[in-house]
Amino acid sequence: MLPKVVVTLPIPDAAKQRLAEYCVLQCWDEADPIPTPLLRSWLQDSVGVLCSLGTSLPASVLADAKQLRVISTVSVGVDHIDVVAASRAGIAVGHTPGVLTDSTADLALALMLALSRRVLEGHRYVSSGDWTDGWSPDLLLGSDLSRARVGIVGLGPIGQAVAKRLRAFGSEIIAWNRTARAIDGVTMVDLDTLFMTADFVSLHVASTADTHHLVSRDRLAQMKHGATLINTARGALVDEQALTDALASGRLYAGLDVYQTEPLPADSPLLGLDNVVLLPHVGSATAKTRNAMMALAIDNLMAGLNQQPLPACCNPAG
Ligand code: GLV
Repeated sequence: MLPKVVVTLPIPDAAKQRLAEYCVLQCWDEADPIPTPLLRSWLQDSVGVLCSLGTSLPASVLADAKQLRVISTVSVGVDHIDVVAASRAGIAVGHTPGVLTDSTADLALALMLALSRRVLEGHRYVSSGDWTDGWSPDLLLGSDLSRARVGIVGLGPIGQAVAKRLRAFGSEIIAWNRTARAIDGVTMVDLDTLFMTADFVSLHVASTADTHHLVSRDRLAQMKHGATLINTARGALVDEQALTDALASGRLYAGLDVYQTEPLPADSPLLGLDNVVLLPHVGSATAKTRNAMMALAIDNLMAGLNQQPLPACCNPAG
């Protein structure tokens, strides 16, 4: 009998066909996340699950999934999964590092440039028909990335890819990492120095209990007047209320791709601010990268079903 696999995100037909040769699929094809009680019942007799960020797999759900051997998420982040509980239960957890590094780093740079060169303000000015006065020497003056000091929080693959891009721009790059790293053109500093002296702070650490609200009200207060926070990592890294207050006061700018609650609620005060650029969690959203993520996630799943080591595993059970 073929093993059962639950799929909680829409996947291409070709992927479904490939998987259907090896397993019986139970697919949730809706745009909304699968309701937890339904997921819990679907997982009762499943050997594998292919999921993404919208599917929460806490210990309480995993406890009922007695036959589960592999969780494969189409994401690099695994904060929606209780990885410790999975390891304890002998469930391998696969994710998609590496293949999304460049796309995510590109988006961090896109946010930096959008804010430093006031791209959205310029777009609104032109598209609203307000640009009627011709060229003006002081219209929409911004700042140069080449003259900026950029602080990178977390020098994993994505942080390093951001540093590589900033070197080409000629920025001064400072960085903090849990363990010191020797990266060309990057000066390692402590977090206080980074937050107090950077013109841009860009976050590239995983969301864990240790990094929850790493950007606290106090850290935001340390940032220079007029500095910019870039977050393409996870919303939980930032005290969003404190950030909203700092933005509303006009003291800081922000480029955000991720939020405490996603989708961003319609009544979020962030929506009313014009010193932010807001994106809908699209760090890895290029066609090539999403294809590569799906391929790696399926390889992880298949390896887990065959009780082989996962190509990209984030826990000892794999
Ligand atoms: C996206 O946020 C991911 O973790 O892949």
